[in-house]
Amino acid sequence: MNINIFGSTGNIGTKTLSIIKNNFPFIQVNLLLANKNYKKLLTQVKLFKPKYVCLNDNTKLPLLKKKLVNYRTKIILSCDINEYLYKSKTELTILSISGYNSLNYLEAILFNTNNLGLVSKECIVSAGHLLKKFSKKNNTKIFPLDSEHYSLNYLFSNKNFQYNNVYLTASGGPFLTYNLKSLEKVTFKQAIKHPKWKMGYKNSIDSSTLANKCLELVEAHYLFDIPYEKLKIIIHPEAVIHSIVDCKNLTSIMNYFYPDMFIPIYNFLNSTNNIDNEYLNKKFEFNQTNQLNFYKVDKNKFPLFNVFDQIDKNSKIDVIKFNCSNEIAVNLFKFNKIKYNQIHQFIDNSLSLDFNNQVNSINDIVEFQQYFKEIVLQKNEII
Ligand SMILES: NC(=O)c1ccc[n+]([C@@H]2O[C@H](COP(=O)([O-])OP(=O)(O)OC[C@H]3O[C@@H](n4cnc5c(N)ncnc54)[C@H](OP(=O)(O)O)[C@@H]3O)[C@@H](O)[C@H]2O)c1
Repeated sequence: MNINIFGSTGNIGTKTLSIIKNNFPFIQVNLLLANKNYKKLLTQVKLFKPKYVCLNDNTKLPLLKKKLVNYRTKIILSCDINEYLYKSKTELTILSISGYNSLNYLEAILFNTNNLGLVSKECIVSAGHLLKKFSKKNNTKIFPLDSEHYSLNYLFSNKNFQYNNVYLTASGGPFLTYNLKSLEKVTFKQAIKHPKWKMGYKNSIDSSTLANKCLELVEAHYLFDIPYEKLKIIIHPEAVIHSIVDCKNLTSIMNYFYPDMFIPIYNFLNSTNNIDNEYLNKKFEFNQTNQLNFYKVDKNKFPLFNVFDQIDKNSKIDVIKFNCSNEIAVNLFKFNKIKYNQIHQFIDNSLSLDFNNQVNSINDIVEFQQYFKEIVLQKNEII
C-alpha cells in the first residue's frame, strides 16, 4: 500500500504520519506535499523516506533542494504536481490542505487514487456538486474524515434511516460564554485557542465564529444528499457527540467518540488495509462523562450564522462566495486588517457582490475563487 498526503505538515497531516508510523509501518509514503514549511517537510522526509515531495511556495524551494541532496527523495515542482498525479496511481490519499486552494488538487487526486480520506472541507463546499461525478468516473472511494461527516457516514452506511432532521454538533468554540461587547477586543491568539480540538488557525477561527459549522452543513448536504432544510446545527460544548439523526419513528441516533481526529484517520487506514485492531484507550467511557449539554444557536452571539442562514444555498456561486470571503476575512483578521467582530460584516458585504461566472467545472471554480479574491480585496482597498 502506498499513500500520498496533501498538507502533510499540518495538524492532520502530522497526525496521519504518526498513526502510520505507530500502527501501519508497512504503508509506504509515496508523496508529501505542503505549502511552505520546508523544515517540517524535511523532518518528515528523514523519518518516512517518501519517493517524492512537493512544496507549493516556490520561494522556499531552493532551501529544500539544498537540504535534500543526500536523500533519494525527489522534488516535484508545484506546477507539475497535477501532471504527475494524472500519470501515476496511488492506493491511499489524505487531502488535508486547509482552505479553498485544496480544490487545486482535487480533480487530479480523484483520478490518481483508489481511496481518498477527505478532510479538507473547503474544497467540498466549493465543488461538492461535482464531487460524485468525478469519484464515479474514476472509481475512487471517498471516505469523509471531518469528524461530523465521518460520524454520519458511519451511521448512514449501517442503516437506511427514515429521518426528519440531521444535527451537526458545534462545541461553540472559545467565546461561547462571552458577551457581545467583549468580542470587540478578541485577539488572534485568543481566537485560535479552541477548547476541544487542536487545529490549524483557519479551522480554529472558523470554529469560534461558527463558520466551520456552516461549511460543514454544506459538506453534509453534498456528501449525503441531505436537503438543507433537514440539516440543523446544535451547540454541544462537550464535543463528544458528533452527529444526531432524528428518525421518523421518534427515536434519535447519536454517534459518540472522543474529540480526537485519530479515530476517523485510524479507522480509514484500518478499513482500507483490512486490519482488525482494537484501540482500547480511545474507547468511549460513559462513566467518565458527567454531563452532555445541548443548546440552540444564539444568532446574536454568532452573527455569521445569520449571514449564512440568509444565503440561497441552492445557488452554487453564493455558497462559493461565502466560503472564499470567509477565508479572506479570517486572513485579514490574522494580519490585523479587520477586527474579530467585523468578520461577519466583511462576509456579508462580499456576498452582495454580483457575479455571473460559470461554475460547471473544477477549473471554472478554481479560476472564479482567484478572481473573487482579487475583486473583494480591491473593493475593500486591500492589496
Ligand atoms: N485539525 C483538525 O482537527 C481538523 C478536523 C476536521 C477537519 N479538518 C480540516 O482539515 C484541513 C486541515 O486542517 P489542519 O488543522 O491540519 O490545518 P493546518 O494545521 O493549518 O495544516 C494545513 C496544511 O495545508 C498546507 N497548505 C496550506 N495551503 C496550501 C496550499 N495552497 N498548497 C499546498 N499545501 C497547503 C499547509 O502547509 P504549510 O505547513 O507548509 O503551511 C499544511 O500542511 C482543513 O480543511 C480543516 O478544516 C481539520
